[in-house]
Amino acid sequence: MSSLRVALVGATGNLGPSILQALLAASLETTVLTRVGSAHKVSVPPGSEKFLKVQEVDYSSHESLVSALEPISVVVSTLGFENLFTIQKKLIDASLEANVTRFIPSEFGNDSANPLVRKLPLYADKIKTQDYLQEKAAQNPEFSYTFAYNNSFLDWQLQIGFMVNLKDHSATLYDGGDVPFSATRLATIGQAIVGMVRNLEATKNKNIYFHDIAITQNQLIDISKRIDGKEWSTTVVSTAEVEQKSYNMLKSSDPSEVANSALGFIARACWGAGHGGDFSDKISNKLLGIPEMSTEDLENLIRETMA
Ligand SMILES: NC(=O)c1ccc[n+]([C@@H]2O[C@H](COP(=O)([O-])OP(=O)(O)OC[C@H]3O[C@@H](n4cnc5c(N)ncnc54)[C@H](OP(=O)(O)O)[C@@H]3O)[C@@H](O)[C@H]2O)c1
Repeated sequence: MSSLRVALVGATGNLGPSILQALLAASLETTVLTRVGSAHKVSVPPGSEKFLKVQEVDYSSHESLVSALEPISVVVSTLGFENLFTIQKKLIDASLEANVTRFIPSEFGNDSANPLVRKLPLYADKIKTQDYLQEKAAQNPEFSYTFAYNNSFLDWQLQIGFMVNLKDHSATLYDGGDVPFSATRLATIGQAIVGMVRNLEATKNKNIYFHDIAITQNQLIDISKRIDGKEWSTTVVSTAEVEQKSYNMLKSSDPSEVANSALGFIARACWGAGHGGDFSDKISNKLLGIPEMSTEDLENLIRETMA
């Protein structure tokens, strides 16, 4: 275990820094792969420099990727949606040549193992990555994958006002607002990745689900009301209609409409009946060393976000 080195790809985005922080806090030797000439800066937690190496790579160069991945046992990708399959396929090919043993692709969201979610076009690159990894793992017994599912980013989505808008006291209530869904803080996802790295055998070639809490939109609103007593402005929408609207937006000639279609597909995957947005009956929190979130912690997070 002491020689195990993790590569984190896309460490400078929304999720990556929290995973980097957790890996370094766990004293895991980590190499961050970042694009040559990236405008993003890798944030290095003080005192953890000795565990960290930052390596610029050219994703179009197989040799550049193989050389960066040669000392690596586990690759964790937190790349965003842009060209996701194209880049991850290159990383997987290079990982195979570099004898990487585990590849954890950029999932970190809705249950894309669910057949209804798999049909939604937003997830196409994630599904293609899964299929490719499964094919490669079947051909190479030394190579394996883990698909990590946390459903909604709890703190991040509360900040941007997606699941409910705590600052404006407003919400779009999907399918009525009483649908339980899993939600997970970014720091918990970091802990979960450390848990996977420490449990490589138990997480080998598996879908691994975890969360902080399963909650409904109306429960979040009730907590907010208890804190400041203010009324909320809400609109109820049907996730089936939102999904259809997103399909129409995909046909638009306006790139921002096309980009915004993502929100409707995410809402359908999170709250739509049968789409598996509540992970309660399949979480591996215990294996990963993640306690479920207390009501008090949730209230504190809501209070901080409202402030
Ligand atoms: N469940 C949720 O609520 C939720 C919310 C947001 C995201 N997610 C998921 O979390 C994962 C990570 O998303 P994120 O929002 O953190 O990603 P992101 O911020 O969009 O991108 C992460 C990093 O990827 C690299 N990158 C971006 N575009 C690239 C390109 N064209 N080529 C190569 N590298 C590129 C950049 O790193 P460098 O510049 O350093 O190379 C960037 O900092 C995704 O799977 C996403 O779907 C889930």
